[in-house]
Amino acid sequence: MNTTRITVISIALLVLACGSATGSGEPMEADKDLGQAVFNMNCSLCHGRDGKAGINGAKDLTMSTLSKEEMVAIVGNGKGAMAPYKNVLSSKEIDAVVEHVRKLGKAK
Ligand code: HEC
Repeated sequence: MNTTRITVISIALLVLACGSATGSGEPMEADKDLGQAVFNMNCSLCHGRDGKAGINGAKDLTMSTLSKEEMVAIVGNGKGAMAPYKNVLSSKEIDAVVEHVRKLGKAK
């Protein structure tokens, strides 16, 4: 009797564990989505969703010739009318959003 009950509970726990494991999987996809989500929420206001809007004197990001490191620095420290983001975004988010910005330029 007791062993049957324990078996049932273990199977239930196993199913729960598997369910949550698949839910948090695909880290690469999540990072791609993170960059896009961060961009649309924080950057598209001035740069537009395609990076070209140039509102408030913002640069057309698809034309940028900056290196990844230079972009990370500008996003973290700000430049001109653009506010610094290092206290707003985590370094992981800054990394993801810069990756997203770099893809905007290469897409066209
Ligand atoms: C308040 C408007 C505003 C927002 C919001 C904003 N930017 Fe900017 N951004 C600017 C302006 C203005 C410049 C040009 C700064 C200068 O050169 O004086 C700029 C420049 C840049 C550059 C440098 C481009 C180059 O080639 O010189 C990058 C990269 C950039 N922004 C990325 C981002 C990212 C990523 C975000 C979101 C985390 C963001 N920006 C949010 C206004 C903004």
